[in-house]
Amino acid sequence: MSDTEKRDLTFDEFDEIVDPRPEETDFDRIVDTAISRRGLMGGALAFGSFAMLNSTFLSTGAKAATDRFAFAQIAANGNDAITVPKGYTAQILVQWGDPLWSDAPEFDDATRGTAASQARAFGDNTDGMEVYAHGDKLLLTVNNEYTNRKIIWGNREEGQFAEDDDVAKGKMAHGVTVVEIAETDGKWGIVKDSPYNRRITPDTEMMITGPAAGDDLMKTAADPTGTKSLGTWNNCGAGRTPWGTYLTCEENFNGYFSAADEEHKISPELKRYGVSSKDWGYGWATIDERFDVAKHPNEPNRAGYVVEIDPRDPNATPKKRTALGRFKHENVACVVNHDGRVVVYMGDDERGEFIYRYVSNGVYAPGLETDSLLDDGTLYVAKFHDNGAGEWLELSPETTEMASMGEVCIHTRIAGSKVKATTMDRPEWVTTNPNAAEVYCALTNNKNRGIKPNKGGDLTPVGGPNPREANKYGQIVRWKPNGGDHTVNGFAWDLFVLAGNPSVHQDDRAGSGNVNKDNMFNSPDGLKFDSNGILWIQTDGNYSNEEDFAGQGNNQMLAGDPATGEIRRFLVGPKQCEVTGLDWSPDRRTMFVGIQHPGERGDSHWPNGGDSVPRSAIIAVTRDDGGLVG
Ligand code: FEO
Ligand code: CA
Ligand code: CA
Repeated sequence: MSDTEKRDLTFDEFDEIVDPRPEETDFDRIVDTAISRRGLMGGALAFGSFAMLNSTFLSTGAKAATDRFAFAQIAANGNDAITVPKGYTAQILVQWGDPLWSDAPEFDDATRGTAASQARAFGDNTDGMEVYAHGDKLLLTVNNEYTNRKIIWGNREEGQFAEDDDVAKGKMAHGVTVVEIAETDGKWGIVKDSPYNRRITPDTEMMITGPAAGDDLMKTAADPTGTKSLGTWNNCGAGRTPWGTYLTCEENFNGYFSAADEEHKISPELKRYGVSSKDWGYGWATIDERFDVAKHPNEPNRAGYVVEIDPRDPNATPKKRTALGRFKHENVACVVNHDGRVVVYMGDDERGEFIYRYVSNGVYAPGLETDSLLDDGTLYVAKFHDNGAGEWLELSPETTEMASMGEVCIHTRIAGSKVKATTMDRPEWVTTNPNAAEVYCALTNNKNRGIKPNKGGDLTPVGGPNPREANKYGQIVRWKPNGGDHTVNGFAWDLFVLAGNPSVHQDDRAGSGNVNKDNMFNSPDGLKFDSNGILWIQTDGNYSNEEDFAGQGNNQMLAGDPATGEIRRFLVGPKQCEVTGLDWSPDRRTMFVGIQHPGERGDSHWPNGGDSVPRSAIIAVTRDDGGLVG
């Protein structure tokens, strides 16, 4: 594969090259044995999961006589446009490269900007976001996950960086944007020069807090204390705390490190996170030596965390909350338990990795100190049993035989393996039902399920909430903590939906009973409940509209009713995009939706049309009658 072809790869595909499938492993032989045994059992395993799930939805009535959706379903399509139901309108709120201050230039399609212009503009590839009311102002805080090299460097030959400034421009397109937004005469836009506007980039000073702060594994030449790091990058999903701060989640942090010394051996601990001697084409080590892992082997230990940002204080130093563990954090869902303790649910988005929970020791109450709530607590990892029960396993030096809680919080994946957590089908967003003690998590897909172990060598057997081998379509698992108490260790789980394609397949790849030819989709990713208890589902999947995915169109957003299981398509994104990031205005009359990487393979001019450069953007969706949208 050429370097040019490599630059077209997703993170997922890149990781596959870094970590190729072993030729023939013990695992293959174990799987072969398991498959033949399942054949002998006459599909008993399938009955326990898939068939039971279908009967659940047949009996609860996927076609309820009344519904809670205020829209008619739209059809799938492959248009280079946003499609919303009749009676709704979508407008652009902000696009990649829009300046946040009036002294910065407008986006330039010919050059796609400079490092200096990008540092003062909305970042690329919008992802998780939260809207905060602050007095009479609205502050949007949003992740800028990564940048498409061929697009941001589309002014250069083969879409490669040619100068240091190109690399720095890419770096400045990452991180987080805080921007004031406002609606004037029905038109949403950003408020340039607001004192709250801020870019947080891979170079912004951060404080490291929690058990890993000051650990020897966190110390570098530039920071011998192991308590201060620079920046955040590859920020995927997000969450909000009960006290009104933003939690941004560092996901594929590994793809930015490289080693100029080709002889350098990457440690097994870093390999577990996909760090390799080659970066993903961003070239950060060429302008910033800390990304050379041969020279600074502890630097990757300082990424892969949840970072707390106060959107109301532009001068506040962001805090890396290491107590929430280090992995490829997708997003966080924070709930206050009935006893006041703060519970945080989190997924690690990689094939065969785990789902986690954190429980604070202290309690939250408005007005009380909140700074220690995400530093002082207990971390757990999920074990799902085939019978619909599950349990949270504590991660501590005692349960993992690791040297310290610091090490548990740095090598968290290894800790999860040690206690034999359940390997999952790529956990993406987690969200909690506002009307019930119930948590939902998107398991987006997993081509390795039942075929290949995870990076730590843990087996990935078919079963439990991961019921399909080489899972192409994904599913959404949900669990209820026993007794409605988010701090107890037992829970009951089932699947809300098993995505599939009933036009192409008649077996378990057709999906569960609440999937049909009209609402089918693949690869659920973003999940968020609205205030009415409707589950919104965003997809980041295969948009080929062919073969296994025929009839599913572009990536999209759907709404699900937890009570009936009904799922209905609400929005279809433009070509080659992913729909990710969702929040509402405080009056619930506007829904903000993120459109990431339109035209990631070169075939889109959304949102500006003509020959324009495709640009990720946030849209504002309203009802034409001014009604509520969430
Ligand atoms: Fe950034 Fe797992 O999505
Ligand atoms: Ca995602
Ligand atoms: Ca995804």
